[in-house]
Amino acid sequence: MSLDISRPDLVVGVVGTGAMGRGIAQVTAQGGMRALMYDAAEGGAARAKAAILETLKGLVAKGRLSDADLAKTGTNLAVADSLHALAGCHVVVEAVFEDLTVKRKLFGEIEAVVSRETIIASNTSSIRIASIAHSLKHRDRVCGMHYFNPVPLMKLVEVIRAADTAPWVIEAMVALGKRQTRVPVVVGDTPGFLVNLGGTAIGTEGLRIYQEGRASPSQIDAVMRDSCGFRMGPFELMDLTGIDVNFPARKIIYEGFFHDRRMTPSPYHESLYAAGKLGRKTGSGWYDYDAKGGKRDPGADHLPSVVPAASVVVMDSHNEKLVQLVLGAGAKALAVDDGRSPILVAPTGKDCTTTVVERNLDARRTVAVDLTGDTAKRLTIMTAPAADDLVRDAAAAILARSGTKVTLIKDSPGFIAQRMCAMIANLGCEMAMIGIASASDVDTAMTLGLNYPRGPLALADWLGVKTCHEILVQLQAITGDDRYRPSQWLRRRAQLGLSATTPD
Ligand SMILES: NC(=O)c1ccc[n+]([C@@H]2O[C@H](COP(=O)([O-])OP(=O)(O)OC[C@H]3O[C@@H](n4cnc5c(N)ncnc54)[C@H](O)[C@@H]3O)[C@@H](O)[C@H]2O)c1
Repeated sequence: MSLDISRPDLVVGVVGTGAMGRGIAQVTAQGGMRALMYDAAEGGAARAKAAILETLKGLVAKGRLSDADLAKTGTNLAVADSLHALAGCHVVVEAVFEDLTVKRKLFGEIEAVVSRETIIASNTSSIRIASIAHSLKHRDRVCGMHYFNPVPLMKLVEVIRAADTAPWVIEAMVALGKRQTRVPVVVGDTPGFLVNLGGTAIGTEGLRIYQEGRASPSQIDAVMRDSCGFRMGPFELMDLTGIDVNFPARKIIYEGFFHDRRMTPSPYHESLYAAGKLGRKTGSGWYDYDAKGGKRDPGADHLPSVVPAASVVVMDSHNEKLVQLVLGAGAKALAVDDGRSPILVAPTGKDCTTTVVERNLDARRTVAVDLTGDTAKRLTIMTAPAADDLVRDAAAAILARSGTKVTLIKDSPGFIAQRMCAMIANLGCEMAMIGIASASDVDTAMTLGLNYPRGPLALADWLGVKTCHEILVQLQAITGDDRYRPSQWLRRRAQLGLSATTPD
């Protein structure tokens, strides 16, 4: 069997015309295909068609769509008043409520109406495609077609290959995605598919750092934005999507991977969920919001009020970046401890305490600096317990002299940026290794689906593959937590000095 997606008379049925179905119908019609919409709610599909036309008229008003394109797209949109009207569809995409019983029943009804060759796809975000297709006669023509909200703006679509999905179906749906001007990636039928699984790393590691009392949500978000170039940190993102959406999603993924510690949710996340503090929509979550939706951010900057130290002992004197920071601030960089000056170290994956003990340094005067990412915007520092605050601030004042912001956190192996980036990269490597998608599709999907500045594998390259691996090795050794075990994919590439994006 095969389906020529380029045929001019292609008809795509869209069942369920809520937020997602509307978007799917719109990009189908704009791609020059006929979109036949059906919704169980009385008048639902007609309302959806009217809403799409309104949206398109708005685009015409802004000069982003021509009148001719509007007219052409309009004729491609059709309303079906019963499921039977979908009998002639070449493809049916389902986008009804996220409920397995509803979807299973509907898939049975669709199969009874359409021809043997019709492809039936689900836009589910969390239900296994194989379980929706479970009782169908012909499961080979079923796959997932996971679009992102709002569909017309989000270019990514995950084409999900279930155990019984035939290769011609995947080929056809990749072609359909392209005709809809999407960027399709082929993904395994595993919990969270690609983007929602990959997205757990930033959230769970941010939560872990917070739970350990190392840094506040505000500090973690600021470091992710300023040092690592993310548009949003994990806590502001959780507040935006809603704790009622992301906490249950985290649990599903954790259960789905049989309690893999890399995906462990946090009881603090659950506490907010239980309290109904759901983020922006309820006016409070990780942050509080004012009546206009403005975020009350307690801030992430440490503003040392003491005089900068005149000299600093730079233990890692081979570290050009560190030496330059000190010299640039007009301080003297000492290579040997004078017994008085602050001591600067720049550990990889280790906390300040471990660094001090291993290198036999004065714990009261040692300040660890994270040089990951954009040091011109923000630097993170930490000290061992019982360190001298005045000495620390004299060192922080030197760093702040260049105009960079300084974030002071509690002692933590891998600070914030190293931990977060290594964990995002590690999960991406694991996803490539276990075949959830190809290495390049993992990166494409995470950049398009989550607006990441770079995909997880490219993030490993950005940290340095060896450095990324080292951070995880140290984290696992210091915490004793299996959560930090490096992916074998990452380890091999670190050992061989290869890019993390190198295919197997
Ligand atoms: N909203 C998102 O951000 C998002 C993103 C990706 C995937 N999804 C998935 O897309 C699907 C739809 O989500 P949504 O946000 O558009 O939901 P929605 O509630 O906006 O729309 C669902 C529509 O389905 C209709 N419907 C329900 N049962 C039906 C049936 N048996 N037959 C025909 N129509 C039926 C409803 O009347 C409603 O119009 C879900 O599976 C969801 O997980 C949602």
